[in-house]
Amino acid sequence: MPIITTIADLKRLHKRRTPKMFYDYAESGSWTEQTFRENTSDFDLIRLRQRIAVDMTNRTTKSTMIGQDVAMPVALAPVGLTGMQSADGEIKAARAAEKFGVPFTLSTMSICSIEDVAENTTKPFWFQVYTLKDDDFMQRLFDRARAAGCSAIIITLDLQILGQRHKDIKNGMSAPPKFTLASMADLATKWGWGIEMLQTKRRFFGNIVGHAKGVSDPSSLSSWTAEAFDHALDWDRVAQLMKMWGGKVILKGILDADDARKAAALGADAIIVSNHGGRQLDGALSSIRALPAILDAVGDKVEVHFDGGIRSGQDVLKALALGAKGTYVGRAYINGLGAMGEAGVTKALDIIHKELDTTMALCGRRDIRDVDRDILLVPKDFEGAWM
Ligand code: GLV
Repeated sequence: MPIITTIADLKRLHKRRTPKMFYDYAESGSWTEQTFRENTSDFDLIRLRQRIAVDMTNRTTKSTMIGQDVAMPVALAPVGLTGMQSADGEIKAARAAEKFGVPFTLSTMSICSIEDVAENTTKPFWFQVYTLKDDDFMQRLFDRARAAGCSAIIITLDLQILGQRHKDIKNGMSAPPKFTLASMADLATKWGWGIEMLQTKRRFFGNIVGHAKGVSDPSSLSSWTAEAFDHALDWDRVAQLMKMWGGKVILKGILDADDARKAAALGADAIIVSNHGGRQLDGALSSIRALPAILDAVGDKVEVHFDGGIRSGQDVLKALALGAKGTYVGRAYINGLGAMGEAGVTKALDIIHKELDTTMALCGRRDIRDVDRDILLVPKDFEGAWM
């Protein structure tokens, strides 16, 4: 077993242990993957100010996100098919998040259902909602999330239709997966994954099969997903959904200041600056480049969260220092899950926390709530290079 000290170490192990089609599903973006790449590489353009001879005792990374206490302002992002990276993956990740004291968000397109996660955890989690045409299904989804004790919903606004992801198409990645000779041969080498997967019943979309009309078995699911998403989704519908839920709402997928103003005007509890991990509109700005203009537009009106490209605690610190109140990690924890199950998610959180705490201290700060732009060196054209 290699010594694991970084998220990149977990990623290597994830790749070795998980079937290629699922690893590629996680580690890919749409079209040329430019936005997917720049989500991470743009973080490297921002440098940190080294400060010295500052008292580093009594440090804390504790903060709040939508009024909820967090051990560090890093939530586990909603990720589809998490239970395919490791058997019962959503339960494992939710447990790791709960023990660590950070929010877990469950995707609509998860393998474990809302009820599965609720039964296997003790603290409220957040539920991510895709907007489907079927109002009855949406109502029931909200009722189920409420019954499960979810303390917030995240409405994703950047996926009415799916960005084209070439790796997924080539791998026959679909719902349910289409197996080719090559993917079967690959599966045969990932026997640890296969043995665990054979021992669980949770292998299909748990929130959907048996709940949506006309979807009683997974064979009809692919046509259902293509047809079910609400292509007509607009701000009126968002307002309607917020009312339907009645509790805390986070709006995800905001990359533009005009859209941020609209989201803030609806009274969302938070917005998430996100380009869906570079999986939707390729050629869009990286999330970290989009963040400052959105903060300028609505930073005093709504809590602004950040998602996209975080692979280290240093990245978390940079997003917080620019002004985000909270951050999300997707691939970074999925790498941990695919590598080592629940222990791997805990490892990913430990790695990020250690990097965050140490970097904060070396920048001369002791409290994560006090970090600000002053600890950063940002290139002059970072925000204004595009018109
Ligand atoms: C689903 O949200 C995906 O990006 O695959």
